[in-house]
Amino acid sequence: MSDLLQIEDLTQESGDTHRPTLVERESVDYRAIAKHVGRIGEGKKYLIKTYGCQMNEHDSEIMAGMLEEMGYQPTSVNEEADFILFNTCAVRENAEDKVFGEIGRLKPLKNRNPELILGLCGCMAQEEPVQQLVAKTYPHIDIVFGTHNIHQLPELVEQARNSQETIFEVWEKAGDVVENLPKLRKDGIRAWVNIQYGCNKYCTYCIVPYTRGRERSRLMEDVVEEVKQLAADGYKEITLLGQNVNDYGLDLKAYDFADLLAAVNKVEGIERIRFTTSNPWNFSDKLIQTIASCEKVVNHIHLPVQSGDNTILRRMNRGYTREYYLDLVARIRRAIPDVSLTTDIIVGFPGETEEQFRETLSLVEQVRFDGAYTFIYSPRKGTPAIRFREQVSEEDKKRRLQELIELQNGITREFSESMKNQTFDVLVEGESKTNSDVLQGRTTTNKIVLFRGPKELIGRIVKIHVTEAQTWYLRGELVSTQHELAV
Ligand code: SAH
Ligand code: F3S
Repeated sequence: MSDLLQIEDLTQESGDTHRPTLVERESVDYRAIAKHVGRIGEGKKYLIKTYGCQMNEHDSEIMAGMLEEMGYQPTSVNEEADFILFNTCAVRENAEDKVFGEIGRLKPLKNRNPELILGLCGCMAQEEPVQQLVAKTYPHIDIVFGTHNIHQLPELVEQARNSQETIFEVWEKAGDVVENLPKLRKDGIRAWVNIQYGCNKYCTYCIVPYTRGRERSRLMEDVVEEVKQLAADGYKEITLLGQNVNDYGLDLKAYDFADLLAAVNKVEGIERIRFTTSNPWNFSDKLIQTIASCEKVVNHIHLPVQSGDNTILRRMNRGYTREYYLDLVARIRRAIPDVSLTTDIIVGFPGETEEQFRETLSLVEQVRFDGAYTFIYSPRKGTPAIRFREQVSEEDKKRRLQELIELQNGITREFSESMKNQTFDVLVEGESKTNSDVLQGRTTTNKIVLFRGPKELIGRIVKIHVTEAQTWYLRGELVSTQHELAV
């Protein structure tokens, strides 16, 4: 549990008069609030299907942790499962369609095995139309719970065993930040760590502020404590997670994201610190300097730009201009010359003209991102942009996406080529997915590197000389020295 007095002391020092109240900032302990349901999953199997972003992936690790505490064992086969949970994403419509398609296909299985519990959670569960659709068309779902109700999973499973009706447990507003949640992380090398929940930015196309609620930061000491525990457990890399990490701490008014990075950088045993996602808005010089000076914070920044056109940026409510973004990139590159920048881009935002789209292409050429996640604008109910009249035709959206992808792939390819015949530090993650004789790791800039070497290297940072470059990965040779193999 956190020491709230410490925050008060810090606010006094900084002369900030907006002191947090104790009630607002108290986080609660899962062990104290979780309703004890016992080992009701003993001898049973669970399957969680996760859609969407890393935050969802990490929520699934938390829910897997809870289920295994209840005695459930994992399976990847629908027919073997006693509990199937869909942890969903609402950011784009096609993700929603996929989920309903799959839930529909599970109906015969549920008919054959009425004991099977089906659950729906994540961002879709927060949407009222989705709740209505479940009630009307998919009543074979047993539990629907929201993003603020994850800690209630055990009691909801217990209730579902004794109920014929679908149970809906969706809080509209977030409650307290819950600490000490169980987590079942996938590998023992890299770990996600939540630092902040929700988003206050209200970009006009985006549903996240409605499904994840207002920004709430975890207390710094709770984050640092978790990272120390991860280091003690042998983890080497952490990724700090939030929808908008550079707003971290704004609600606490005691410290900011740069302070958090500096604090985490001191944790012994952790070798790499990543974070996602940062927003160009509010990306301070202090933050740039901190990233540059903290040796464990990697030289990779994911900096979603969304569009290269000022009118579109304004209508997206992004809070910055093209010129501001380009200047920010220049400031970052001055401070961190070998930085790798990646981005998110949306094409076909309502009213986007061909000319405005060309502005995005020209920004991509100017910045030369290492990589970009590119999306076709998807109208989302409940967001302001759905009311914007001039929608772009599907045909134009698809063509623009294609053109953008081709441009970016060419640039990504050139980046990969430029890494050939150079040597990089690579954190070895495990065997390659397609060939167990080959090891896979990543550079600090998050490029995948494949190479041959002994399995004992898994979990270590080794030097790899790159011999072959593909767009999405590199191949290389281990520069093995006695020293590296001995550490
Ligand atoms: N801050 C979060 C944003 C989550 S949404 C993060 O970056 O993890 C992730 C990306 O999805 C956004 O950056 C945006 O490019 C895209 N996106 C969000 N809403 C969208 C919509 N309605 N249509 C298309 N793409 C969207
Ligand atoms: Fe969405 Fe914008 Fe927040 S993209 S998650 S509203 S920063």
